[in-house]
Amino acid sequence: MKIGILGAGQLGRMMAISGYPLNHQFGFSGNGNNEPASLLGHMFALEDTADHIESLVAFADVITYESENTDVAAVKEISKNVAVYPGVKSLFTTQHRGREKALFDQLNIPCAPYQRVNSEQDLIEAVNVLGLPAILKIATEGYDGKGQFLIHNENQIGEAWASMNDAESILEGFVSFKRELSLIAVRGIDNDHKYYPLVENIHHNGILRLTIAPAQNIDSAVQATAERYMKTLLDEMDHVGVLTIELFETDNGLAVNEMAPRVHNSGHWSIEGANTSQFENHIRAISGMPLGDTTPTHAFNAMINIIGKTGPIDIALKLPNAHLHLYDKSERADRKLGHINITANSQAELEASIDKLKDFLPK
Ligand SMILES: Nc1ncnc2c1ncn2[C@@H]1O[C@H](COP(=O)(O)OP(=O)(O)OP(=O)(O)O)[C@@H](O)[C@H]1O
Ligand SMILES: [Mg+2]
Repeated sequence: MKIGILGAGQLGRMMAISGYPLNHQFGFSGNGNNEPASLLGHMFALEDTADHIESLVAFADVITYESENTDVAAVKEISKNVAVYPGVKSLFTTQHRGREKALFDQLNIPCAPYQRVNSEQDLIEAVNVLGLPAILKIATEGYDGKGQFLIHNENQIGEAWASMNDAESILEGFVSFKRELSLIAVRGIDNDHKYYPLVENIHHNGILRLTIAPAQNIDSAVQATAERYMKTLLDEMDHVGVLTIELFETDNGLAVNEMAPRVHNSGHWSIEGANTSQFENHIRAISGMPLGDTTPTHAFNAMINIIGKTGPIDIALKLPNAHLHLYDKSERADRKLGHINITANSQAELEASIDKLKDFLPK
């Protein structure tokens, strides 16, 4: 099949790498010809032609996208000519924190208490309802912790609202969590579902730095609860493809933070760490193929993000159980340039390998 991807970043790049052995072809739309995926298939770039999206649609048998910030009206228009997965309902819901949270409430999925905020007066009232600390988050377009303001005391309300530039926002009660986890699952056109194990995510300054897969010491009941939330969401949105939910593990059980209608940074470990990677499973799902087995290949896996500077990659290249993935991006502060996957057969081996790669992690 010819698969069209809206976007040409590292996620599109890794989808294509996983899809070629299945005999698929790939096309991408993007702004320019110098993006991580541009040389991995047909590139339809805005810098060449204003109708680059139409050209991608003419090329493709099925379309998917890299980002929940993809324009809903554009996807509705494209859907008249070619199937787009995940569909409009998934995209429309997940690109707006307020809509996403309303769906969690409707489906009785626990999440942080929240209030919608559209003015400084709204924010004052929301703080009265939720108390402090609380986090003000822009409703759309936020990523890597951008567009957020942690409010500790009432004197910061004016500054917090000013930082949103009048954008629609939500205030969320602060969750004191023990760990951050995520669950990745995939649903096929035929309604088959497959789940990866819960993983643990460690962030620094709002950016994911390390994923441990599977997360250690997860009770099977906790995995089952997360899968139940996931199944409810997949079915409600009639989702096709990969869906990711980010969770907080608290003393009172799991609370969902947010979700993404796509392959996710916390699933990159699955390239070598699972029988079928999240990328291959997304491509299988949207192209109508049977879903692949999600069982980990090793009992202990990790993923270290390469952020800002490429760093001493030879250390990774010399480690037998480390796998380097670079995205062909230039160095820039806070930019995701690549990642290193580690596979191990014991906790001790995993920890020793992470220690050898500690130059890639924050101090
Ligand atoms: N209600 C909350 N209580 C406590 N911590 C929170 C809360 N919401 C977010 N955080 C912290 O801030 C991080 C980023 O928040 P969130 O996931 O909502 O934003 P994001 O910008 O979409 O992040 P990303 O793109 O990395 O997924 C979370 O991973 C968590 O560490
Ligand atoms: Mg997040």
